[in-house]
Amino acid sequence: MIKYTILEVLQKNQGKIVSGGELANTLGVSRTAVWKQIISLQNEGYQIESVPNKGYCFSTSDVYSAYEIERRLTTKIIGHPVIFLDEVDSTNNYAKTLGASNAQNGTAVVAARQTAGKGRLARKFESPEGCGVYLSIFLRPKLQVSDINCITLMTAVVVADTVEELCGLRPTIKWTNDVYLNGKKLCGILTECSIEGESGAVEYAVVGIGTNLGQTSVDFPEEIRNIATSVFQETGVRIAQADYAAALLKNFERYFYEQHFPENKASFLGQYRKDLFFLGQEVTVVGMTGQYTAVAMDIDEEGRLLVRTEDGRTKALNSGEISIRMKN
Ligand code: ATP
Ligand code: BTN
Repeated sequence: MIKYTILEVLQKNQGKIVSGGELANTLGVSRTAVWKQIISLQNEGYQIESVPNKGYCFSTSDVYSAYEIERRLTTKIIGHPVIFLDEVDSTNNYAKTLGASNAQNGTAVVAARQTAGKGRLARKFESPEGCGVYLSIFLRPKLQVSDINCITLMTAVVVADTVEELCGLRPTIKWTNDVYLNGKKLCGILTECSIEGESGAVEYAVVGIGTNLGQTSVDFPEEIRNIATSVFQETGVRIAQADYAAALLKNFERYFYEQHFPENKASFLGQYRKDLFFLGQEVTVVGMTGQYTAVAMDIDEEGRLLVRTEDGRTKALNSGEISIRMKN
């Protein structure tokens, strides 16, 4: 696309003036065509100054778009393509509509903001613009429904690796689907899938990941201010959204394809156990019908949480309708 060729030339000459005539000649188009593309790039958020009678000058720009994510991608499958939406109810909902189309395995749906971002049990996930990365990966995996739980666990390790890579601090994981930084929730993961009734095979899966990058405390609604956080709030590091999205997709591909999910669960389960923050501690298990106290013992090969109840029995918990609360 001519627009992005112009952008590349300007970026290579960052801080220098490139003449419109020179650009037009190199690309074999008119000066007016170049000028129109510059306007379009400026509208996308790129800082390009028009210097009268001289040309155009690019300075560093933090733009979040499909193009900016795709140009950072080093993957073969995951993130091809990226569908970027300025606003959507939920990237998971959008990605699920891809199930009925011939959308490609590995497609990533990314939104600048979500109006109805959701967590488990239809809880709300706050998704304001400019602060976070809200992304769903659409997969047509060769999996059984029993493997789905483990995709969420694998993804929590993917998130922890990505955050550590980009800000230097490794988060912890709260079974099953939450990633924490300094004791506050940084990221939530929601995996949804469509199952073929007869065989129990997964037709498609959607792995939704929401990560808070740039919020300060006041950016969170009051009711979650004490339990939610962002990378910036904890570390002072500003991660560009496009950098984070691309790194997340890279790490997802590494665990899912290069490490052969689900055959090689050891590739992420060992790390998941290390990252879990309540193993060996007393927790409250909150279910639909009541709650009880137990000690969190381990995670088994199916991604279930093994707990020892007060009467000494071991129970294997599926995430389903259960929440774990720390005992104070
Ligand atoms: P559990 O998974 O153990 O039930 P949870 O309270 O984290 O715990 P989830 O369904 O995983 O519940 O996540 C949804 C909850 O996350 C919301 O009820 C809200 O408390 C919190 N939340 C909403 N938006 C955000 C956000 N942007 N960052 C951090 N936390 C959020
Ligand atoms: C949770 O906290 O329980 C899970 C939150 C999952 C949020 C992500 S943001 C991208 C995707 N779209 C959604 O509506 N939910 C997930």
